[in-house]
Amino acid sequence: MTVQVNEFLASAKVRVEAVLDRVVPPTSHTPGTLHEAMRYSLMAGGKRLRPGLCYAAFEDCGGTGEAADWGAAALEMVHTFSLIHDDLPCMDDDDFRRGMPTCHKKFGEAMAVLAGDALSILAFQVLARAGSAPAISVLADALGSDGMLGGQVVDIQSEGKPCTLETVDYIHVHKTSALIEASLELGALLAGADIDQRKLYRDYGRAIGLAFQIVDDILDIESSTEELGKDVGSDVENQKATYPAVVGLQESKKRARELVDQALALTDRMGVRGPVLADLARFIVERGN
Ligand code: IPE
Ligand code: IPE
Ligand code: MG
Ligand code: MG
Ligand code: MG
Repeated sequence: MTVQVNEFLASAKVRVEAVLDRVVPPTSHTPGTLHEAMRYSLMAGGKRLRPGLCYAAFEDCGGTGEAADWGAAALEMVHTFSLIHDDLPCMDDDDFRRGMPTCHKKFGEAMAVLAGDALSILAFQVLARAGSAPAISVLADALGSDGMLGGQVVDIQSEGKPCTLETVDYIHVHKTSALIEASLELGALLAGADIDQRKLYRDYGRAIGLAFQIVDDILDIESSTEELGKDVGSDVENQKATYPAVVGLQESKKRARELVDQALALTDRMGVRGPVLADLARFIVERGN
């Protein structure tokens, strides 16, 4: 990771974590166990990539003020909700996440389902503070049956079956790129960007989002639990439809690099944050966790 992208993500992390700490009720507030489970998964760390992308697009479009904070916090809450539910025994059945036991391992399945639900709802309450109905639509579209949830459905339905490249592309674009694209579009939208400008960030987000999930599939094979902070080998165990399963490791790496090159070409048309967005794109393929 370059010094610049490292510092950018570190400052996005500090900024969004301060907002999250303010908006999630304290564990002393009833129902305490629910608030504890929400905070447990949310404050456990994580790269805070989606908030970082939202802040970068916001600043690149000349945005100022706290609107991006509401977007960034909402994005991290819905992302964490998706992780809590993704790890459940009825989904990927994983035991470790962000370096700790998964939410259901710590609090039980019922509380993990409810903590995920509560985070997804709180996300929209917080985003509403930005006072933008289109922003609510962008996030809802990214998460619904034609977004992240659609991808999760086909991911589950494809387990243990032969899979085409077309299907794995559908899964990855929906379960992962959709929210990454929305992170960029939200930043641009909250800064007042017009529809053409928003499309530039969306196109960049589509490319890095797909690359991000391809690299996630590769890391599930090549990395370790210590480095990732989550279970590895989970995809092979669950016979998941992944890029390496469909096209092999070498071709997967090549495709991820091509997508990052596509994203890099788009950063030429961006503003002051173009270099940071270029480094973030490179980080997607170079990352070790
Ligand atoms: C993991 O996302 C889930 C995928 C979409 C691959 P991240 O790798 O961004 O997880 P955290 O937020 O850093 O824990
Ligand atoms: C998860 O994909 C995508 C979402 C959580 C929406 P994975 O199932 O590959 O994510 P990890 O590897 O468990 O983080
Ligand atoms: Mg999954
Ligand atoms: Mg999973
Ligand atoms: Mg994975």
